[in-house]
Amino acid sequence: MSLPERNLALELVRATESAAMAAGRWMGRGDKNGADGAAVNAMRYMLNTIRMDGTVVIGEGEKDEAPMLFNGEHLGTGEEPKVDIAVDPIDGTRLLSLGRQNSISVVALAEKGSMYFPEHIFYMNKIATGPEAAGSIDMRLPIAENIKRVAKAKSKNIEDVTVVVLDRPRHENLIADIRRVGARIRLISDGDIAGALMTCKPDAGIDLLAGIGGSPEAVISACALKCVGGSMFCTLWPRNDEEALKCRDLGMDLDRILGMDDLVRSENVFFAATGVTNGELLQGVRYEGDHIRTQSIVMRSASGTIRYIEAIHKLTKLEKISGIDY
Ligand code: FBP
Repeated sequence: MSLPERNLALELVRATESAAMAAGRWMGRGDKNGADGAAVNAMRYMLNTIRMDGTVVIGEGEKDEAPMLFNGEHLGTGEEPKVDIAVDPIDGTRLLSLGRQNSISVVALAEKGSMYFPEHIFYMNKIATGPEAAGSIDMRLPIAENIKRVAKAKSKNIEDVTVVVLDRPRHENLIADIRRVGARIRLISDGDIAGALMTCKPDAGIDLLAGIGGSPEAVISACALKCVGGSMFCTLWPRNDEEALKCRDLGMDLDRILGMDDLVRSENVFFAATGVTNGELLQGVRYEGDHIRTQSIVMRSASGTIRYIEAIHKLTKLEKISGIDY
């Protein structure tokens, strides 16, 4: 028996809570960048207090030039352990700016050098499911076949299977195929990290995630799924010939199916997420006068422990000790 190791996810959650509390004030204000900026600053501030030598491998923001924690940025105190960081201070900035459901603040950590870096490719085609059906999905097969396999693994009828898909014109054929086989669809306007995580939460009523979404979100989702024993496969999805050609120059294989260990090659992954707006996954931030209430999920792959943390943050005290304005 060895002593329990340090669970970095329990420290990460302070960063996602802070980002969520700072960003939650922007709910419904119609200002994506204002919300993102508040989350980024709070997240950076808190991550820098953690004893680690972290490098951001998966930052976010290049796609829409929003404020960001940039790739290559060093975070933490600079002491051991050396870690890769994947961060999305708000997944679902548009959801938040419109006051819609399921925007979350997320961060994942794993050993240095273990996270996949998608270079200039902003999008990946993804399929993901939770632990119950993890061994049954195969990206080489059509979506209808995957749905049948998930139904079988979960002892359900095909009509009971619900697939979460980003509501985008690029998914017209995918949606038609899912409808044809008879499964249900949960169309989401944004936020496919929450979508991937919902496949792992029994009471969320989601069985499968399918479709094209952000590459950073794919790596972060894989970190979360690794913690709970879910499964995910992705392929790079260049937006145009120029991006595809650059892949060829860099030796990136567009046909290669990236599995869980390609996306995060580590058995020591830490993940934390806090709800910003309410959703199936997590409750959003609630401002209750002299305190703020948050709900988070905290996970670690080595132990497989999943914690839900309900926190009450005292505003008057935070004003004195925190560098963040909530
Ligand atoms: P951000 O809020 O972090 O910008 O991302 C929202 C999101 O919906 C992701 O969850 C998803 O992977 C991606 O954008 C999809 O990209 P697009 O909106 O360009 O289709």
